[in-house]
Order: sequence, then structure tokens, then C-alpha cells
Amino acid sequence: MKNTTRESARGLDFSEDLLAKGWYHSFEFPDGTVIDGYMSLAAQKERYSRYPISDNLSGKRVLDIGAWDGWFSFEAERHGAAVTAIDCVEIPTFLQVHRRLGSKVDYRVLDFYELPAAGFGKFDVVFFLGVLYHLRHPLLALEIVCGLTADVAIVESFVIDAETWKEHQNAIPTLEFYETFELGNQYDNWSGLTVACLLAMCRAAAFCRVELMFAGGNYAGAACYRKWEPPPAKPASVPPQLLFVSNSRTPGNSFSSRKSEEYLQCVFQAPPNLEIRREDLRLEVGAFGTRTVYLQRHDDRNCTATFRLPPGLDPGWHAVRLRFAETGFSNEIRIAVDVPAERPGQLVVKDLSDGMSWDRDQISMAGGGFVSFWVSGLPENRSALDMRVLLGEIPLQIIWIGPTETGGYCQINAKVPPDVAKGSHDFRVQYAGVSSEPQVVRVL
Ligand SMILES: C[S@@+](CC[C@H](N)C(=O)[O-])C[C@H]1O[C@@H](n2cnc3c(N)ncnc32)[C@H](O)[C@@H]1O
Repeated sequence: MKNTTRESARGLDFSEDLLAKGWYHSFEFPDGTVIDGYMSLAAQKERYSRYPISDNLSGKRVLDIGAWDGWFSFEAERHGAAVTAIDCVEIPTFLQVHRRLGSKVDYRVLDFYELPAAGFGKFDVVFFLGVLYHLRHPLLALEIVCGLTADVAIVESFVIDAETWKEHQNAIPTLEFYETFELGNQYDNWSGLTVACLLAMCRAAAFCRVELMFAGGNYAGAACYRKWEPPPAKPASVPPQLLFVSNSRTPGNSFSSRKSEEYLQCVFQAPPNLEIRREDLRLEVGAFGTRTVYLQRHDDRNCTATFRLPPGLDPGWHAVRLRFAETGFSNEIRIAVDVPAERPGQLVVKDLSDGMSWDRDQISMAGGGFVSFWVSGLPENRSALDMRVLLGEIPLQIIWIGPTETGGYCQINAKVPPDVAKGSHDFRVQYAGVSSEPQVVRVL
């Protein structure tokens, strides 16, 4: 029967050459003997030298994902690193070199997607070389790599336009999908990205700085950083002032690392008349930088910007601070990540008003059904997910949980659903199982 599989225009079938050599990587041993693999030693050294990897890696942890024969693992170890290498199958040639070198590389047979649960912690440097296109979920894969990286990940992958990418670098990035054997006659080659797509996906995965280091042949490689460049020695203006940080999807200062997308909404003040663009903002959450998704300037001082929660944050409180490219950092505001809800002692509600007219103890449906009130007694980490604002038994939509103000009260805004009956209702706030005293509110 005729083979109807479409072939990618990109080739990449090196299986016969590989079979003939028996090794993918080449090696030279201290006694002078050499193993001549499919990839030459010179090519491997050139690949390694493309990337910003320190000559002295002592005290650093390196993860080599999809190590194959392991030349990059052993090279990082030669530079002093404590290396962990993983591959989805046990590669006997890796173990052979490991023995011959008396290597201490920690070799684990693990599938890529088993990495987050492997309990390895974070690595200063992650090698993610020649693996992305083998994975079925490329953006998730880059996000997992980002979450495992403390400093820099080297992401090198097959791309479909290494020689021509500059001609269309401003076009919408493209990903080719290979359902079966289209790429290199291998069923575990899933995608081919354009260079722009590779860089965009590394940024979308939450690396704050992504620098293209190489594009040529069928490959491109990028250095993907988790931290911003150091602030300027001589700031060009005063830093921004951070006023408030909230979870933009679920009001409050609580975030979950288990959700695929969590965003920080930051309200800040910039010096009047300073022109700021999205790419000028440098937000840090704990140790990690994060890029601006959206920036809105309200007037000559006040701005709101949205940022993705960086992956890989440990459970606990993390300081958030902001700077512009040419300034130092702002003040810090804390957010809670994976901190369980605390049970409040006593909840007290005051100053309940219509959210538009500010008329007390009433809510006008004609005015939109907005209600605003102040609550004391809430724990420091607070999330709309743990709070219920009730009219009788009907839950209202919580649209804003403000910061704690003087006197320990916190403003909350909520919206009444359109089908609520007009007239008097019992109004209560519940948080983690504790309820405020009911009070009467009139829906008009
Ligand atoms: C093209 S080789 C890259 C080897 C080496 N990193 C380099 O760049 O020279 C791809 C490697 O990734 C491994 N690999 C493929 N899918 C994987 C997965 N799901 N989990 C872990 N390793 C995988 C393969 O077994 C192979 O060793």
C-alpha cells in the first residue's frame, strides 16, 4: 500500500547515520581515547559555548533534560556543577561514560512530565536541548522548565525557519504540528516552531528575559532568564510606588501555584509625565521576574498593570516589588502563594452602601446592583474563593477586596445578581466558615 504520510519539508531523519555510529554524542577521555559519535566533539563544544554558562559552575545545580549519551551533563560536571540528568529511557551509553569517568552525575530514568513531582527542587541552570519538539505539550513543557529554573534555562530546539526567520519576525508566530511520522520519520516528533514562536512561547511560559543566542541549520537556541537584569547604577528617575496588588481573577492577595494562569493586578504611581511602556516594567515576585501583560495609565500618576504569577514559587508569603528599566525598585507588598485560608475570630461589617450612590443600607438595581462595605477581622491572606457575601441565601459576586485600612477594616465591593427580589434581605459575610451578624439591606 502506498505510504500516504505527508513529509515535513524539513527532513531531519538521521537514523541511519546514528545506527552506523552507535553513539549520538562524541567523547574524549582523560587517557586520550575518543568516541566518534553522530555529533562531532567540535560541534558539541561549539553548542556549549553559544550559551551564557559560567566556566566555574562549582556550587551550582544543573539539570540536563533528555541527556541521551550525556556529553552536556559530563561537561557541566567537568566545570564543577552538581548535575542531575534525566531521560525517558535508560541509555546504556550514558552509563558507560558515567562509569569510565567515575562521574557523580545523578542519572534518573524519568519522563519529562514526571519532573515536577520528582522533588528535585530548583536548578541554577537547566539544559533543555533538543527535547521540546519531542513533547506533546510544548507550552506546558516550557512552563515546567521555567518552574524548575532558578537562574537560566538553555532552550534549544528544532525550528522550521532558522535561516529565514528575520524576514517574517514580526508576523504572527507559527507552529507546525506533526501527527505521525512527518518530521524525521519519527512518531515522537510533535511540533516545529518558527524562531519567533520559540521565543514567544519561552516568554509566555514566564521567563522574564529571553535572548536568542543562535539560529541556523534546523535549530535555534535561547537563554531564558528568571531574573531581570540588575537595576541601573544611576537611576534616571524616582522609582514607582506600589499601592496595591491583587489577584486579577479571584479578588484578594492569595494565589495558587496549581492553577495554570494566575495574574497579579498592580496599582502603582509613576512620576508625572514619565513616559512608560509595557516593556519598561520590571516586576519581581519573590526571587523571580515577570513580564507585563497589560498596562493602563489612568492619569499623569496612577497606573494599573497586569503580570503573570511566576511558576515555581514555594508556598508562603512573597514580596512583590516593581521598577522601571531605568529606576530602582519600589516599596514591597506581600502576596500569599498556596497559604491555606485562616479562620477569622469575629467578622464585623460596617458602612454598607449602594456602590454607586453611596446611600446607606440599600442597593439600587437600576444603578447596577453594586454594594460596597467594610469588614474587620479578615485574616492577612484573603481570597474571594474563601468568602461568601450573602443576601439571604443568594451569593453575590465579589469584585474587589481592598487592602487593610486604618482600624483594620477592608473594603469589599460586590454585585447583586439581576434576578434578586426587591425588598428587605438579611446581609451577611462568611469567611472560612465564620459569619458576620446579619444586617438588613433594602434592594430597590
Ligand atoms: C535529540 S535528543 C537530544 C540529546 C541532547 N540533549 C542534545 O541536545 O544533544 C532527545 C533526547 O530527549 C529524550 N526524550 C524524548 N522524549 C522525552 C521525554 N518525554 N522525557 C524525557 N526525555 C525525553 C530522548 O530519549 C533523547 O535522549
